[in-house]
Amino acid sequence: MSYRLIQFPKIVDPRGNLTFLQNPEQIPFQIERVFWTYDVPGGEKRGGHSFKTQHEVIIALSGSFDVVVFNESGEKSTFSLNRSYFGLYLPPSTWRQMENFSTNSLALHLSSSLYDPNDYVRDINDYLRL
Ligand code: TYD
Repeated sequence: MSYRLIQFPKIVDPRGNLTFLQNPEQIPFQIERVFWTYDVPGGEKRGGHSFKTQHEVIIALSGSFDVVVFNESGEKSTFSLNRSYFGLYLPPSTWRQMENFSTNSLALHLSSSLYDPNDYVRDINDYLRL
């Protein structure tokens, strides 16, 4: 299964819109961990790695940023996330880098596993070799 955008339900309401996600309808894995990045200085990049076993969904809860992904064949795609009702699903073995963060952007990451530094592949040459 490859990376893909997931559209979450959007309950439009004159009092303010509402979006939700729950297993298993919106997220193709059991969520074990949630983290977010914020206060990213202009021009900075985050990520720059793949995971051996971890699945992720990345959501721009606020603001915007780009996620540059490579699949195992080395094909590159760029997703501009700027709506809180879209998430980018990244299966294991997907190289990703987040860049072009807008001021006050908030990037939410849903992960299928606990933090494990041994699950990271940080060298793109190792990644393409694997
Ligand atoms: P990291 O995932 O390496 O960020 P990036 O890919 O953007 O460089 O995480 C940065 C640091 O935060 C790293 O030293 C470990 C720590 N960290 C945790 O302790 N728990 C977590 O769940 C995450 C995602 C990171």
